Amino acid sequence: MSRRPVPSILPSEITAPEVYASRRRFLTGALAVAAASAVPPALAAASTGPVGRELGAHRNAALSTTEPPNSWEDVTGYNNYYEFGTGKEDPAANAGRLRTAPWSVTIGGEAEVKGSVTLEDLLKPHPLEERVYRLRCVEAWSMVIPWVGIPLGDVLRRFRPTSRAKYVAFTTLRDPAQMPGQRYPVLDWPYAEGLRIDEAMHPLALLAVGLYGRVLPNQNGAPLRLVVPWKYGFKSIKAIVRIDFTERMPATSWNRAAPNEYGFFANVNPAVDHPRWSQRTERRIGAGLFAARQPTQPFNGYAAEVAGLYGGMDLARWF
Ligand code: MTE
Repeated sequence: MSRRPVPSILPSEITAPEVYASRRRFLTGALAVAAASAVPPALAAASTGPVGRELGAHRNAALSTTEPPNSWEDVTGYNNYYEFGTGKEDPAANAGRLRTAPWSVTIGGEAEVKGSVTLEDLLKPHPLEERVYRLRCVEAWSMVIPWVGIPLGDVLRRFRPTSRAKYVAFTTLRDPAQMPGQRYPVLDWPYAEGLRIDEAMHPLALLAVGLYGRVLPNQNGAPLRLVVPWKYGFKSIKAIVRIDFTERMPATSWNRAAPNEYGFFANVNPAVDHPRWSQRTERRIGAGLFAARQPTQPFNGYAAEVAGLYGGMDLARWF
């Protein structure tokens, strides 16, 4: 995504998504054949759909799209997670050994309640919800993903942010021993993201712990990631270990790497092109080689819910 030099890791962009998709279909077919002829169970499982601990969550139909979700294979096999490599298949190949338990999150900054909280305590008071959201990547592809999680705002309010808390900053784990991509200066590690406090409190903003009814696979950001469906996917930070309430707009990874390409707000906006490509249309992953691109919707189709957050703002300037 950035223009910064990428040493030994090959940029994902060199694999055209169409090539990737056909390769994947080939692979799925090959795995099916292999499964029929007694391959090791772990390999066979790769083609059989959802795996992992079941979470038990009630679908929030009011906040879910009725578009069909992408397959488990697409959602867990085509990822952006630069801590595990810049190729789309790298996270699935390399993230498996990340230790996601025990896990705790440190709360800091402009809040009355601060300190470290275990993941279990962070989640405890909230029933898990399933929400099927569109995810629109800044690279102009999209997916539909059935997430499991809890509303971010409900979690944040428990820490009683002060009146000076204007923004919320999120930080990913930094551990080059476990996250080999962090040994290369692709981004300023650790990955950092942020939201304005009213965006963070919006009912659509989700802290996700699962997908397809099961615990998040590591490549999708286990054990805890953000999902902000009206913004480009890079806002949806994975493997969160810190949440800070701040008075000033926090520095964020992609904005710091290329401020003319990735704004702080990063609201999905077909009217504002990326400097190097159009954002007017998108390719739905898994739709097939010959499927038409679809028009991108303002705020990724969530304008009715969130456009009011940006009243009076010039969205071409605050992209
Ligand atoms: N979070 C971290 N820590 N590192 C990353 O490289 N990539 C982002 C986002 N969160 C990224 C991240 C980008 S560009 C996208 S599109 C989404 O994760 C992809 O989420 P998914 O792989 O679960 O579909």
